[in-house]
Amino acid sequence: MELDGQVAIVTGAARGIGFAISQRLKELGARVACWDIAPPAKENGSVFAHAEIVNVTNLASVEAGLERTLATLGQADILVNNAGVLTNAVAPAMAETELLVEMTEDYIADVKSRMPMGRLANVTEIADTVAWIASPRCSFTSGQVFDVTGGRATY
Ligand SMILES: NC(=O)c1ccc[n+]([C@@H]2O[C@H](COP(=O)([O-])OP(=O)(O)OC[C@H]3O[C@@H](n4cnc5c(N)ncnc54)[C@H](O)[C@@H]3O)[C@@H](O)[C@H]2O)c1
Repeated sequence: MELDGQVAIVTGAARGIGFAISQRLKELGARVACWDIAPPAKENGSVFAHAEIVNVTNLASVEAGLERTLATLGQADILVNNAGVLTNAVAPAMAETELLVEMTEDYIADVKSRMPMGRLANVTEIADTVAWIASPRCSFTSGQVFDVTGGRATY
């Protein structure tokens, strides 16, 4: 339980990569606050110690969300800014999430064909990388971009 006693804020946590990250951080002992423009599905609510409707593109919304999160959970130790950009520290190629319904099958097949591993990322592979970055095991790294691309980033 490496993250025992810590509070993590995860943006865009209601589904997809953000939700997988939240699950992993909770498994490691953190209390997780979900910040999203949509609430988490009822069956996923137990992952979160707190959930806020926050739009990360709106400063007033972020400030109000932080105030309410601190009032509820007392502290904020880890921020995973997943909504809109994924994290600043993790570069993913393409992962299996609902986001892909917005893309054509041809486009997805093309991206997959150019990945040396021949497949898309599983969200748990991204979640594990984020959990490691946030953990004491990564304590001597002060800033980096981590490649989680199956060998090739395709942007
Ligand atoms: N899935 C991929 O292959 C992939 C690849 C590269 C980058 N990304 C980026 O990673 C992030 C997560 O991807 P995903 O596949 O889980 O997406 P997703 O669409 O499944 O989930 C995104 C979540 O973010 C929330 N959200 C959207 N705009 C928001 C805002 N302004 N403020 C707060 N919450 C907001 C949504 O409500 C949703 O719950 C996205 O930023 C996406 O662009 C994804």
